[in-house]
Amino acid sequence: MTAPASGPARNEYDHPSIAAAYDAENAWGRDDEFFLALAAETPSSRVLDLGCGTGRLTVALAAAGHSVTGVDPAGAMLAAARAKPEAEKVTWIEGTAASAPRQAFDLALMTSHVAQVFVDDAEWSDTLRHLAGALVPGARLVFDSRDPAARAWEDWPGVTSVGEGAVSFTSTNALPDGSVLAVDSILRFRTEAELRDSLAASGFTVEAVYGGWAREPVGAGDGELIVVANRRTA
Ligand SMILES: C[S@@+](CC[C@H](N)C(=O)[O-])C[C@H]1O[C@@H](n2cnc3c(N)ncnc32)[C@H](O)[C@@H]1O
Repeated sequence: MTAPASGPARNEYDHPSIAAAYDAENAWGRDDEFFLALAAETPSSRVLDLGCGTGRLTVALAAAGHSVTGVDPAGAMLAAARAKPEAEKVTWIEGTAASAPRQAFDLALMTSHVAQVFVDDAEWSDTLRHLAGALVPGARLVFDSRDPAARAWEDWPGVTSVGEGAVSFTSTNALPDGSVLAVDSILRFRTEAELRDSLAASGFTVEAVYGGWAREPVGAGDGELIVVANRRTA
């Protein structure tokens, strides 16, 4: 697959109604259990949760004893995160990977397919390089990205185009005043080879790629590419 053309900066999550509805539409699941268990492999670790959103997992990581920093550019999502019980245990940063402190983390996460919001290859590479800079040598980067081979978009409503490694779709959101907010989104679907190449070029060694939340091989499981990578020491 080739990269789609760059689009203007956008963040459809930065809306109070979308942030308010997010947790109800994204219930705690096997993916969250996977990331929590993986973090537990490095007890009391310093965790960077990039694209932390409303902080569902971020707060749970802090409650589990990790020292957690949640970073997200969407102020509305962070406002929801900061309102959660025990949110004060987390350091919240409104920004992107470039905003994360350097050489400060043992583990970086991007969960619920945050990796797919980086549609443009240059933005994805920059994000990986900033994450490498935020991690100490040997630290882990773990994220999920839907496997394009599983063609998840075929079950999605509102898909407007598929191609060039990305899927565009429009979702409708009911607002409290009874009106409807239509939101256009685009998600990048990178192949396993594309993910591996981009990680290798950005200072990471791939430890494992799983196809599902029970650590199945790619092609089995849940149609995912769940990547565990290590920040190279040099
Ligand atoms: C599907 S939500 C995932 C939220 C959270 N990780 C979870 O598990 O619920 C995607 C998040 O990515 C964030 N995001 C969008 N562009 C981003 C960027 N350039 N850098 C970091 N996060 C970004 C959005 O604001 C949104 O909160």
